[in-house]
Amino acid sequence: MAVKAVVFDAYGTLFDVRSVAASCEATFPSRGDALTGLWRVKQFEYTWLLSLMGGYEDFQSVTGRALRFSCRSLGLSLDKRAEARLMGEYLKLEPFPEVSSALQALSGYRLAMLSNGSPDMLRAVVEHAGLSDVFEQVISVDELRVYKPSPKVYRLACRKLGLRAGDIGFVSSNSFDVVGAKRFGLKVFWVNRSGAPLDELDATPDAVLNSLADLVTAL
Ligand code: LAC
Repeated sequence: MAVKAVVFDAYGTLFDVRSVAASCEATFPSRGDALTGLWRVKQFEYTWLLSLMGGYEDFQSVTGRALRFSCRSLGLSLDKRAEARLMGEYLKLEPFPEVSSALQALSGYRLAMLSNGSPDMLRAVVEHAGLSDVFEQVISVDELRVYKPSPKVYRLACRKLGLRAGDIGFVSSNSFDVVGAKRFGLKVFWVNRSGAPLDELDATPDAVLNSLADLVTAL
C-alpha cells in the first residue's frame, strides 16, 4: 500500500486513556468504570451534537462538560479539585508501549497527527510523551471548528500535507474515525486492540491491526 504520509489519531490510538480510568477509580472507588465509560461516550457525543448544531467549543471544554454531566448522571459529587485532577490526566497520557518503536520504524514516511484535541491539549501530551520531534505536523480540528468525522477534517489533513487522499495512510483505533476517514477516501488502518466490532456504516478499513507494531508490515 503505497502512501506518502502516515497520519495518526491521538486518543486511544497513540495515547492510552486507561490512566484516566485509574484516576476515576481513585477519585470515586468502585464507580471508576461507570464514570470512565460514560465520560468517554459523552465526550464524543457532545462533539457530534455541537458539530450537527453548527456550534463549536474546543475539546478541553467539551471534555469538561462531559465529565460534569457524567458525574451528575451517576450521582457523583465532583468538586473543583477532583475535576482539575481528572481533566489533568488528559494532558499526561502515556503513549501505548509500542508507539516509540513503531514510529521509529516509520521514520521514512512523513508523519503527522490529526486529532479532535485542542492545540494546547495536543502540545501537552506530545511533549509529555517526548514525541515533539517525531511529527512534521500536529493538526487539530480547532482551526476548522468542526469535529471528526466531518469530511472537512480529513480534507484538512490533505490540504496541510499537500497530498491527495489516496496518498495518506490514516491510523485510528476509533471506529467512527475509521469510518469517516474511509468514506472520505484516505487509506485507513484500524488499530483494533480490543477486537471491537466495526460500525455498520458501509466503510471497511484497508487493514485491521492488533497494535501499531503491525503497521510497518501492513504498509
Ligand atoms: C482524536 C480522538 C477521536 O484524537 O481520538 O481525534
